[in-house]
Amino acid sequence: MTTDNELRDQIDLQKLPAHIAIIMDGNGRWAKQRGHDRVFGHQHGVEAVRQTAEAAAELGVKYLTLYAFSTENWNRPKAEVDALMSLLVHTIHGELKTLNDNNIRLRAIGDLKSMSSEVLAQLNEAIANTANNNRMDLILALSYSGQWEITEAVRTIAIAVKDGTLNPDDIDEATISSNMNAPDIPDPELMIRTSGEYRVSNYYLWQLAYSELYFTNVLWPDFRKNDLYEAIIDYQKRERRFGQTSEQLTNIKG
Ligand code: FPP
Repeated sequence: MTTDNELRDQIDLQKLPAHIAIIMDGNGRWAKQRGHDRVFGHQHGVEAVRQTAEAAAELGVKYLTLYAFSTENWNRPKAEVDALMSLLVHTIHGELKTLNDNNIRLRAIGDLKSMSSEVLAQLNEAIANTANNNRMDLILALSYSGQWEITEAVRTIAIAVKDGTLNPDDIDEATISSNMNAPDIPDPELMIRTSGEYRVSNYYLWQLAYSELYFTNVLWPDFRKNDLYEAIIDYQKRERRFGQTSEQLTNIKG
């Protein structure tokens, strides 16, 4: 059996993705397989969050975004939504010391004003409390969807045009990028989705333009450090061409 350390040693630290984005999927199925309700799966997903954040920070990944709650997740049964919100509050509170001990800055993207005041208060406290940390940014996507984010950006840009502060001829990709929720964060080089589903599900639609996509059958509550290492090793074997040919890239390298 390959150990965590053997896998870790295969990673080229010079070619780490600066930003990894994850869709944590499969909590419900994991719980069902064990005869429990879906919330049990979310509760066990927290250990996977902990392990993944720790592994990413240890390696030197600078940004880790976790899709914790999508715009569409509001449509789940109220009991599940309430349980997820309560889990968020408790986890953020419970992990605050670990975040600070590990020099990790907590951030959030999404329609945060739609979150309850309790979640927002806890979130804002943790964000403020970790604001000076600089080893890695842990970004929670909460009440987030890519289409929502792009719609918000379009609205902001439309207002600037209406006000006369922006000329429509000057709108380019950089204008759109700068109106995303967290424009300072580089686009993810690697997007991981667990549980064997091959979809992007409204995640980082603008930012995933050139991301490498990695899908694993592992259900999120089972995701551990070695699963992250495997994803990074797979990513490092790929050739990122950004629309160019292989030969062009070789010429640039040489
Ligand atoms: C998807 O699995 C998972 C979610 C909607 C929630 C993820 C939340 C956590 C792991 C809780 C803690 C997170 C943080 C950041 C503190 P699913 O319910 O869609 O699973 P299924 O596809 O098997 O039904």
